[in-house]
Amino acid sequence: MPLTAYDLTGRTAFITGAASGIGRASAVLLAEAGATVHCADRDEQGLHETATLIKTAGGTAHIHPLDVADRAQVDQAVATATATTGRLDVMAAIAGIMHSSPVLETRDEDLDRVLAINFKGVLYACQAAARTMIATKPNPKATDTCTDTDTRTQPPTGSIITMASGAVDTGGPGLLCYGAAKAAVVQLTKTLATEVGPHGIRVNAVAPGWIRTPMTHRHDTDAQAQTQTQAHTEGIMIRMSPLGRVGEPEDIAHAVLHLASDASAFTTGQILRPNGGVAMPW
Ligand code: NAI
Repeated sequence: MPLTAYDLTGRTAFITGAASGIGRASAVLLAEAGATVHCADRDEQGLHETATLIKTAGGTAHIHPLDVADRAQVDQAVATATATTGRLDVMAAIAGIMHSSPVLETRDEDLDRVLAINFKGVLYACQAAARTMIATKPNPKATDTCTDTDTRTQPPTGSIITMASGAVDTGGPGLLCYGAAKAAVVQLTKTLATEVGPHGIRVNAVAPGWIRTPMTHRHDTDAQAQTQTQAHTEGIMIRMSPLGRVGEPEDIAHAVLHLASDASAFTTGQILRPNGGVAMPW
C-alpha cells in the first residue's frame, strides 16, 4: 500500500471534541497529513490551543465553538466549514463525556444528559456531514471518468468516523448511561453505513480501550480519590492488556487517520478497536 493513501492534502476534515484528548490528537494528526481541519468543541480556550498547535506545525485550522447537543449549532458550523473550504471530506464525531452511576441510582437527568451529548451529539454531526457530502459529491459512477490526479482538485471524498468505546465490549459497573449511548453510536454507524454507502460515503466507529486523557482523570471530584481511582483502573487495564500498557491519544488519532484516508477505502460499517488487546470480540 503506497503511503500516499494516507495523504489528506486538499481535503477538509471537521472534528468535534477537538479541544482536548483524542479529538485534539486527531485534529493535529489529520492536519499533519495535509487536511484543512475544522475544530469544534464547547471549550473555546482549548480550541485556540489546538489551532495554535496545528498552525505552529504549518497546518491549517479553523475553530467552531459549539455544543454538539444543539442540532442548530452543529448544522450551522458544518455549513460554515463547508462554505469556507468548499468541500467536506471527513467528519470525526469525537466529543463526549464520561458518566458513571449504578443502575439503581441512575436518574432521568443523567441518562438524558449523556444521551444528548454522547449519542445525539454524534447523530447531529453525522447527519450534517452526510447531507453535505451527498450534496457536494459527484455520483460515484461519474468519478470513473475523472482523470485528474492532483488531489487538490479531486472531487470530495466521504468518510464519517464515530467514537464508540470499549465499554460496548466489556460492560462494567456504573456504565449504564455511557455504555448505552456508545452502543447507540455503534448502531448509528452500521445503519448509516448501509444508507450512504451507495453515495460512496464510508462510516466507521473507533472503540478505544482505556486512553490517558483529561476524561479519564475526571471520575472523581476529590483530587486524592481521583488519583487513586485513576491509578487503580490503569493498573487493571495494564494487567489485562497483552501489550502491558494503556493507550495514549495518539494511538487513537492514528486509527482515525486510517479511517479518514484512502487507506481504508474498502472499509465501512466496521468497529476498529485500538484497545491494547483488552477485549477481542469476534
Ligand atoms: P476529553 O475529555 O479529553 O475530550 C472530550 C472533548 O469533548 C472535550 O474537549 C470536551 O470539551 C468536548 N465536549 C464534551 N461535551 C461537549 C459538548 N456538549 N459539545 C461540544 N464539545 C463537548 O476526552 P477523551 O478521552 O479525549 O474522549 C474523546 C472521546 O473518546 C469521547 O467520545 C469518549 O467517550 C471516547 N473514549 C475515550 C476513552 C478514554 O479512555 N479516554 C475510551 C473510549 C472512548
